[in-house]
Amino acid sequence: MNVSVIGTGYVGLVTGACLAEVGHEVVCMDDNPAKVEVLLQGRMPIFEPHLEGLVARNRRAGRLRFTTDVAEAARDAAVIFICVNTPPRPDGDADLTYVEVATRRIAEHATRDTLITEKSTVPVQTGQWIEKTLAIYRTRPGITFEVASNPEFTREGMAVEDFLHPDRIVVGVSSPQAEAVLRELYAPIVEGRFACPIHPECRVDRAVPFLVTDIASAELIKHASNSFLALKIAFANAVADVCEAAGADILQVVKGVGLDKRIGRAFLNAGIGFGGSCFPKDLKAFVKIAERNGYDFALLKEVERLNVRRRELVVAKLQQALWILKGKRIGLWGLAFKPHTDDIREAPALAIARRLLDEGAEVRGYDPQAAAKAQEAVPGLTICPDPYAAAAHAEAVVLCTEWPEFAALDFARVKAGMVRPLLLDGRNALDREALLALGFEYLGIGRGTAPAPRRPA
Ligand SMILES: NC(=O)c1ccc[n+]([C@@H]2O[C@H](COP(=O)([O-])OP(=O)(O)OC[C@H]3O[C@@H](n4cnc5c(N)ncnc54)[C@H](O)[C@@H]3O)[C@@H](O)[C@H]2O)c1
Repeated sequence: MNVSVIGTGYVGLVTGACLAEVGHEVVCMDDNPAKVEVLLQGRMPIFEPHLEGLVARNRRAGRLRFTTDVAEAARDAAVIFICVNTPPRPDGDADLTYVEVATRRIAEHATRDTLITEKSTVPVQTGQWIEKTLAIYRTRPGITFEVASNPEFTREGMAVEDFLHPDRIVVGVSSPQAEAVLRELYAPIVEGRFACPIHPECRVDRAVPFLVTDIASAELIKHASNSFLALKIAFANAVADVCEAAGADILQVVKGVGLDKRIGRAFLNAGIGFGGSCFPKDLKAFVKIAERNGYDFALLKEVERLNVRRRELVVAKLQQALWILKGKRIGLWGLAFKPHTDDIREAPALAIARRLLDEGAEVRGYDPQAAAKAQEAVPGLTICPDPYAAAAHAEAVVLCTEWPEFAALDFARVKAGMVRPLLLDGRNALDREALLALGFEYLGIGRGTAPAPRRPA
């Protein structure tokens, strides 16, 4: 099928590359010429595991093209995905300017019947606005536009894997024809009819659930899903604070809670809070959507408040341990908002870096992928080539992002380089007992108990 993708960022590039990988002819269009130029040169504008290989292979096979020309993208596509950014406005609402511009350009340039499919995360009823916009700005009366919603649930750092092996595919449509087009498009993924580029042994033992809804419900499913995940994290963080005060251990508590199948262990991780381009923005937008529809979503407002407070918690813990922060050298391990990505949007590590710099501390950070972006966002931060350098002569190190490499460090070497061996494990990702045995002062999140005695081997 001929598919076009408007907006070649984290979502659009993954969508385009994966749809090409399962056999479709894909044109990815972006109005940022620098980004398209990088792609045309065979380089990646973002870091996402597996993506580079997928893009290269499908370009070679002639199934994946990049352009800045919307006419080229709109010309022959049976389906056009809108994957542009929907950043928050100052009042928390989603800014849909980019969606509107993309829609107008499609209306002006499409030359055949086309299914315009929103993949960007948009407020409920955006589909109706897209329909109206297409009707107003269309230049060829003979062709038919239909609108669908196909929210994206991929996680950054796992996006290729999630796209090819999703928990579910949700499509919001208003006609059987639109449903049929999207069923055909996704059939290789739903039925596992593609050679998996990630797991050569991959065998599909069940069809991926393909949920068909009306457009408004599909739009809401996305906001409700992200808000629920954010709620789970905020809940774990609140329980962690109680654990810390009451002398209990959050890791043991969430293990016990998560074993209940009705609850599940995923997203019950206490720490320094969530960030990224989705949860904070989508939460705000959902509060606004609810408000516009006459509902005060106080629950989600509290989730937001709790999350912002996590960053202050780190500063407070450091102040309690170090007393004065001014002039102290503090290392930050991990600057991306989560592991396996170079995305720093709303990254807790950067908010913490800014706060510590404001306090007069010297802040040295390391991240395997996000260093350059972090440096641009926080010029006062000193970027280090490795985690040992970030810890060198430091009075404390904060683990902000749980890249697996941090758990595997030579901690005797880390300790030898530090002025004071204080480790604040902001993600409870390190082996507390081993660090204490090495002589570190270990501070976790919600870890109120003394370490459990080691069992004899
Ligand atoms: N990042 C994620 O993991 C994720 C997951 C699910 C949903 N989403 C949603 O998907 C949407 C895109 O997110 P993203 O992270 O990929 O954003 P992004 O900022 O990485 O990419 C958006 C791209 O759209 C381009 N663009 C903007 N207007 C355009 C236009 N009129 N024509 C052509 N290109 C245009 C920009 O240049 C940019 O490259 C957002 O609504 C986001 O909430 C993101």
